[in-house]
Amino acid sequence: MEIHKENPEMVRGLFSDIAGRYQVVNHILSGGLDFYWRAIAVRLIRPWNPSMVLDVATGSGDLAMAISKACPQARVVGADFCAPMLEVARRNGLPELVVADGMSLPLADQNFDVVAAAFGLRNMASWEKGLSEMARVLRPGGHLLILDFSLPELPVIRPLYRFYLHHILPHIAGLATGRKDAYEYLGESIEQFPSGEKMTSLIESCGFKNAKSHPLTLGTVSIYTAIRN
Ligand SMILES: C[S@@+](CC[C@H](N)C(=O)[O-])C[C@H]1O[C@@H](n2cnc3c(N)ncnc32)[C@H](O)[C@@H]1O
Repeated sequence: MEIHKENPEMVRGLFSDIAGRYQVVNHILSGGLDFYWRAIAVRLIRPWNPSMVLDVATGSGDLAMAISKACPQARVVGADFCAPMLEVARRNGLPELVVADGMSLPLADQNFDVVAAAFGLRNMASWEKGLSEMARVLRPGGHLLILDFSLPELPVIRPLYRFYLHHILPHIAGLATGRKDAYEYLGESIEQFPSGEKMTSLIESCGFKNAKSHPLTLGTVSIYTAIRN
């Protein structure tokens, strides 16, 4: 059955199924670039010197762990609506975990200095609801960081990347996880997800200012930063 982000049960089900292999498949499919993308994210976060950090859609907790290492003074909380993914995060050593939907967080207003989400917002049924919740739990002046896939703008790279995304990646990942449909969904979700100025406008319409886009790896991935109004 085709997976749609508008059906959170389906999204949760697919991450439950692939939780055990998620990290390994990620490292293989990105050629290890995911370590580099997280390192850049953490390099942006460190100077903000946060005390309280929330990693939304933390999954296996990779970004949360990288933030913990780089900001030892910070208390880092990971939230995700998929318990098997959080189990992986727990095994990876992340102690503070909350099973929660990013569009309705069971967390107090204005409690965090930094809210981050890596490859998570794209999967939410409503990006506006996800971003508004992130704004709600951030203190005014607090920082947002979104790391996610984007479609490259470069004329030759764009069609090549799309070919990889729709015709190569699902086959490799399908063999590794037994869920080819999950990776067909990945390509579709990247096609739909706004990038560049569209994303910075969306972020600013949800309670943020100074939204900036930082494209990485030929624009196949982007980091967005913004400040809570
Ligand atoms: C592609 S994984 C990313 C995991 C991790 N942040 C990383 O960088 O590897 C997407 C994660 O988003 C979670 N997710 C998707 N929609 C969510 C929602 N509405 N609320 C909370 N978590 C969600 C999934 O359960 C999954 O763990």
